[in-house]
Amino acid sequence: TIPVILDVDTGVDDALAILFAVKHPAIEVLAITCVAGNASLEQVVENTLKILDAADAPAIPVAAGATRPLIEPARSASHVHGADGLGGIALPATQRVAEQVSAVELMRRTIMDAERPVTLVALAPQTNLALLLRTHPEVAEKLERIVFMGGSASVGNATAVAEFNVWHDPEAAAIVLDSGVPTLMYGLDVFNQVAVEQDAAAALAAGDDPVGRIVGALLGNRIALSEDSTAEYTGLIGDAGAVCALVEPESLRIEHRPVRIELGGYGRGQTLVDMRLFGGEDIVHGLADEWATIDIALDVDAPRYAELFLETLGLK
Ligand code: BDR
Ligand code: CA
Repeated sequence: TIPVILDVDTGVDDALAILFAVKHPAIEVLAITCVAGNASLEQVVENTLKILDAADAPAIPVAAGATRPLIEPARSASHVHGADGLGGIALPATQRVAEQVSAVELMRRTIMDAERPVTLVALAPQTNLALLLRTHPEVAEKLERIVFMGGSASVGNATAVAEFNVWHDPEAAAIVLDSGVPTLMYGLDVFNQVAVEQDAAAALAAGDDPVGRIVGALLGNRIALSEDSTAEYTGLIGDAGAVCALVEPESLRIEHRPVRIELGGYGRGQTLVDMRLFGGEDIVHGLADEWATIDIALDVDAPRYAELFLETLGLK
């Protein structure tokens, strides 16, 4: 199995990702850490605990982290995820409670105590990861790698060029990129492709399976919201695709490319991906010296990931 820590801002598609991770037999979720992003930190923690109940998950430690980005104030994405972050699907109350330690401390001890190198899966603004890597740089060597949903080698969503997670805390993303930990970026280039068909989502929402009803409702919320400003979200499994990448990387086209986070001006929060190089090892204008070179998912077998997602949840 692949031991992972999930860092989330639950969030409609974070909820889908948690369900998938908890249900997939090859993934072992050691801990979940929460950060402000799609919704306030308090709401993110509550949503995360409730979705673990919905998944009938074992006792997985959950901790609260940063309430806001390193520099800027928090800016919720309630226009995409609804006021409660889950599109108003009203999950039942839960007995689960968050740990008394901070997200940074839960990540540190989980990584340092693990028998095998841990994969850090970041599905949210990277504030918690940046604080961890700055406070406890010794964790870097103990990590297998970082897989993050964020960034884009093409179009943005928060702005014309910036993806939400990186845009929400660009300095944090820059710190994480700078850490030297092997990294896979699962950005909008692939995120925007993997969707469950509208009819299938509607059938799940109206069906008998309790998890299926939640999944259908979550997918359907995106569908409903898509009627106004967020058409790109129709039926997307979103962050769950980044977790699919752990178990089926062969369904992605991945290239090793130099990347930098734009911190200023109209481009703030953009991931500048140098697509000029072949293989990423050649040095052009000295860029490879200054830019982190990471794996970037540029294309995906989208029907396969949608199928993998539904199969893993026993919904296909
Ligand atoms: C990312 O931002 C959030 O809206 C989603 O949960 C995802 O992590 C997409 O830009
Ligand atoms: Ca997210």
